[in-house]
Amino acid sequence: MTEHSKPLTVPELRAMKARGVKITALTAYDATFASAMDEAGVDLVLVGDSLGMVVQGHPTTLPVTLDQMIYHASCAGRGLKRAVLAVDLPYLTYANPMQAIESAARLIREGGAQMIKLEGGRQRAEVIRALAGQDIPVCAHLGLLPQSVHRMGGYRVQGRDERDARTLFEDAVLLEEAGAALLVLECVPAMLASEITAALSIPTIGIGAGPACDGQVLVVYDMLGLTARCPRFCRNFLVESAGIRAAFGGYIEAVRGQTFPAPEHGY
Ligand code: KIV
Repeated sequence: MTEHSKPLTVPELRAMKARGVKITALTAYDATFASAMDEAGVDLVLVGDSLGMVVQGHPTTLPVTLDQMIYHASCAGRGLKRAVLAVDLPYLTYANPMQAIESAARLIREGGAQMIKLEGGRQRAEVIRALAGQDIPVCAHLGLLPQSVHRMGGYRVQGRDERDARTLFEDAVLLEEAGAALLVLECVPAMLASEITAALSIPTIGIGAGPACDGQVLVVYDMLGLTARCPRFCRNFLVESAGIRAAFGGYIEAVRGQTFPAPEHGY
């Protein structure tokens, strides 16, 4: 096994923050895409519940079930040799610590997840503590929370005013204290993401959260220009590449070289 294909681990992702190496992440829902991005050298593959929108065609992520996440996780996992496999807990499968442990155990046993991701702020601290207490690596997710779309009143940038920004910052600190191993920051002002990244010892992975995050993640169909509207925080890497594999390579190079995200991709 070459150095390039040696499997990465969750502690190694954390060590990348300490070494100042940007973490590259993409979503995948099947073995072929997962394998192509793994071979290109992506560090983290996320089977996101965004599959409800980009694969299943729903307007939100809310209809996605745990069985569907397990199915897509096991498909994507078969394509990986090196990248860490993170999988979303879908809507209302982690409402309390016991339900969260049971749901996470299925993602790990049946789906092959190495890390699970869940959305929400301080109200998730107890669930994260319970999962971490069972040695389950947790990726927390703050900012725009697609599973809370109805409470938020749409898909909007979060943490814009001072009070919301303070709450978001405090939530990030509380979730690290509760045992989160990684933190996704979605659609938050670049300055706030930079302050959170500096305050935490766990890595932050941004999507629409500016260049200071310790890593970046994009929905694969967005960065290949397949979705109807390219979000402001995204770049179409396929138009500038010779094919899909080259687009993955270009994305990894741009994140590592810190040419993506550029100021125009931020808030
Ligand atoms: O579901 C998903 O794909 C996600 C990413 C956008 C971070 O949560």
